[in-house]
Amino acid sequence: MNFIVQWHEELESTNTFLRERARTDAALAEGFTVAARSQTRGRGRGARDWTSPAGENLTFSILLRPAADTAKLASLPMATALAVSDLLAGFSCMAQLKWPNDVLVNDRKICGILTESLAAGAVILGIGINVNMTADTAARIVPPATSLRIITGRTFDLPGLLADFLASFSPRYSQWLAGGFASLRTGWESRAQKIGTATSRGIIAGYGAYGELLLRDGSGNVKSSWSD
Ligand code: BTN
Repeated sequence: MNFIVQWHEELESTNTFLRERARTDAALAEGFTVAARSQTRGRGRGARDWTSPAGENLTFSILLRPAADTAKLASLPMATALAVSDLLAGFSCMAQLKWPNDVLVNDRKICGILTESLAAGAVILGIGINVNMTADTAARIVPPATSLRIITGRTFDLPGLLADFLASFSPRYSQWLAGGFASLRTGWESRAQKIGTATSRGIIAGYGAYGELLLRDGSGNVKSSWSD
């Protein structure tokens, strides 16, 4: 995929900005990417805020036009989480994936993903990766987070790291477009919470054909969950 990256010093939210941009320009090309050094109202899932101190981390959104149905779209964040874990592995940083789309290192969140569907099959894929955030700042986030800097002891050039991410994302996206969750299953299951893990919602019994979470209750009944 051809990515065109536009950097901004400050935006309210890269997702909000790109959504508006795509709304007013129906021909905006797939791969158009908006990154901000600072977001004034970064959004997380479930109407939560996304905290990212100015200039320290990657906050960006990519316009995609996968024209996939709702069931298939459920695993797009999982493909993205795999791409983030591929990126981190390049720095000897081994991530755990938490369904549906959190990326953790040492049980602390290093990346969050927010997908939003637009009209005509377009999707805004918003990604926040904690990069140069210090341990003090990460500890103040609720629950405490982590960053690449904390793990590796290095600081990173943000545009360079974004280019590295896009290079990791491109093959994962192609894999997902061609084969949906089935094509990601092996990679996902090797990096995600293991089958049999007890969670507050039940025991993980596996992942369904579309990447939905299968949870076993105390009576042994298995139910599908499409959202956390
Ligand atoms: C989550 O884990 O709750 C999802 C967090 C997603 C944060 C990113 S940062 C870039 C993009 N713009 C936003 O306002 N949110 C996403």
